Amino acid sequence: MLASLLTLASLYLVPAAVRAEPCIAFDIDWNLLAFGLDGKDWSAGTQDQWASGKASDITTSGRPPFDGANTTCYLSQFTNAIYVANADGNAPSDIHIYDATAKSWSTQSVTTGNFDPTSFTAILDHDTNVFYAASHGELYHLDMGLLKSANSTALDWVDVEALPYSSGYEPVMALAQNHIHFLDVPNTPAGNANIYVIHFNFFQPDAQSYPASSGSSFPATHGQTASFFQAVGVQEEFAFIPDDGSATYVVNVENNSTQTLAGPTTKDARATYFAGITSLVQLDSSGAVSYLPYNTNDTAANAQATWTPIPALASVAPPGSSGGISSGNSTSSASSGAPKTTGSAAAKPSGSSAASASASSTPNSAAALAAPSTLVGGVVSAMLIAVGAALL
Ligand SMILES: *[C@@H]1O[C@H](CO)[C@@H](O)[C@H](O)[C@H]1NC(C)=O
Ligand SMILES: *[C@@H]1O[C@H](CO)[C@@H](O)[C@H](O)[C@H]1NC(C)=O
Ligand SMILES: *[C@@H]1O[C@H](CO)[C@@H](O)[C@H](O)[C@H]1NC(C)=O
Ligand SMILES: *[C@@H]1O[C@H](CO)[C@@H](O)[C@H](O)[C@H]1NC(C)=O
Ligand SMILES: *[C@@H]1O[C@H](CO)[C@@H](O)[C@H](O)[C@H]1NC(C)=O
Ligand SMILES: *[C@@H]1O[C@H](CO)[C@@H](O)[C@H](O)[C@H]1NC(C)=O
Repeated sequence: MLASLLTLASLYLVPAAVRAEPCIAFDIDWNLLAFGLDGKDWSAGTQDQWASGKASDITTSGRPPFDGANTTCYLSQFTNAIYVANADGNAPSDIHIYDATAKSWSTQSVTTGNFDPTSFTAILDHDTNVFYAASHGELYHLDMGLLKSANSTALDWVDVEALPYSSGYEPVMALAQNHIHFLDVPNTPAGNANIYVIHFNFFQPDAQSYPASSGSSFPATHGQTASFFQAVGVQEEFAFIPDDGSATYVVNVENNSTQTLAGPTTKDARATYFAGITSLVQLDSSGAVSYLPYNTNDTAANAQATWTPIPALASVAPPGSSGGISSGNSTSSASSGAPKTTGSAAAKPSGSSAASASASSTPNSAAALAAPSTLVGGVVSAMLIAVGAALL
């Protein structure tokens, strides 16, 4: 009797299936990176290298365990850093930083305040390097400065204001031209988005229309998004993939248009997406990675494009093995509070390694601060950074 009670209790304490959650991102040289895929990190190189060969193992010390829920990756283009949220199930508020130039990891502590780090949707604004996240009906921001490695000072999630949408709205957020596009807002028709203007902290009162030349623009439904980067400057287009995977919509916010392209081969509401300049990449919940080639200047080619697997990753991290979101028979120590027993390479950095990472970042900060204007070669982004800093 006691034994069966204990068994019952343990069923409640230990989640039935613990999922390793990988994520994908590009660095600023447009190498495709896959983190936490089959327990390792990989670089599949640039798009011309995906069809054959093997991705390089870039697993290194200080990386997070990639055992969080709904892990997400963001590229900070000015710093060539990947910011990773929810990569450590025991520390959901931490932002892990992969410096893609130095190929090193550090862990940024973040003070959450009212913010729930286990349940949010976010974008990383290109020009200010500030996260904007919607969570439980509220909009928050988190200023990443120009960090490419962790600072010893904790950063703060700041409550901005309530979303002006009805409660129960499940946010779908996409970034283009420093505007957050909220899709699937209740009572907003298909093919329209509600906009938050980041640099003016302003929700536009009317939805913006993005018609498709076919007449059939994106549906008013939940889905995933990814912004296409440009070699220089802000993103001007984003992809929207509805949860049913029926099509891929690419919205251009410069000329208010939508292209309707092939839906991913794998229809998977739990898939995540990341776009570079010339491709949109899907990581599905089995750990399989595929992509849709994209050319911002050739809508005819885009209309013909098809989704293709990436053998360079599949050959080293086969889908369905331990790295996939849907896999995993390991048991969690998260809910029991027991210490983590991950391998040493995957272990969370200790306080001292985080501290040394931040100490070594000091000499870099002048270079990092100079980076935006050098990269952009202009005043505009530097001004936007200044505006962002002044607003925050
Ligand atoms: C993760 O995402 C799924 C749907 O995508 C959602 O149902 C679940 O609540 C999320 N988990 C957390 C911890 O936010
Ligand atoms: C890093 O920490 C130092 C010391 O607290 C602080 O002066 C600096 O502004 C921080 N930098 C960023 C980008 O947050
Ligand atoms: C896009 O729509 C906005 C607002 O409706 C309008 O101000 C802008 O001129 C449009 N852009 C183009 C290129 O039509
Ligand atoms: C919008 O701009 C993109 C990128 O320049 C271009 O490929 C596309 O044809 C334009 N669409 C319309 C409807 O003008
Ligand atoms: C698209 O065309 C513009 C203008 O000609 C050019 O500057 C840009 O590099 C092109 N983009 C791509 C991805 O080919
Ligand atoms: C999951 O469990 C099965 C059966 O117990 C085992 O064969 C398999 O190797 C395990 N998979 C992982 C990824 O641990």
